[in-house]
Amino acid sequence: MNNNDNYDLILKLVLIGDSGVGKTNILSRYNNNEFSLVTQPTVGVEFGNKIIKKENKSIKLQLWDTAGQERYKAITNAFYKGSKGAFVVYDITRKSSFLNIDKWIGELKTNGSEDILIILVGNKSDLEDKREVSTDEGEKKAKQYGIAFCETSALQGKNIEYAFNILIDEIILEIENAKQKEMKNNKSNNKKKSKGIMLNTNNDKNNKKKKCCK
Ligand code: GTP
Ligand code: MG
Repeated sequence: MNNNDNYDLILKLVLIGDSGVGKTNILSRYNNNEFSLVTQPTVGVEFGNKIIKKENKSIKLQLWDTAGQERYKAITNAFYKGSKGAFVVYDITRKSSFLNIDKWIGELKTNGSEDILIILVGNKSDLEDKREVSTDEGEKKAKQYGIAFCETSALQGKNIEYAFNILIDEIILEIENAKQKEMKNNKSNNKKKSKGIMLNTNNDKNNKKKKCCK
């Protein structure tokens, strides 16, 4: 039995944003409830897995932590493919990381799936006295793109689980909506098909006989 058989769903999520905004720490807080004040910049891409339960469904999250440093851009862009959701992270104490949000979202749209769901995350909310980006600015930016928004602190563990839940719930809802749409389409296709059979039956006097004589 393949390990994948144990999951109802596998979701790939990516974390992107400028170097040093806290992507790796957001992930380690979410994955192992760990935080480090001294972390090395991520090299290329790092992976993590987490299994969660949602409404009796078991979901395997494939978490892709990408490097914010420019020099890894060519590698990281290739890894957006197939991702269902993305954390686009900035540092509320570094305006430049917020100004780069448009660039990150642009890259996601170019290299990722068209229907990827995004949450904008303003990290380091514990550093209120150093704040350079107001909550209002963050909210407005998210509204501009029609995406979710949340301020987090990986250091305090604040809103980390909440932010993941917002994104995952949105993705699940979208998958379920797509399934229902497909079911509706199948139903109406079947109706059309069965209508065709009815017509044939009415028109063919020998049809009953034919059906009996196998
Ligand atoms: P790259 O891998 O280079 O793209 O950086 P990154 O986005 O993964 O940043 P990383 O998680 O390595 O964090 C960079 C620095 O910010 C580290 O010194 C962390 O300790 C610190 N940091 C991360 N999150 C927070 C937070 O919520 N609050 C505070 N005060 N510091 C944080
Ligand atoms: Mg990192």
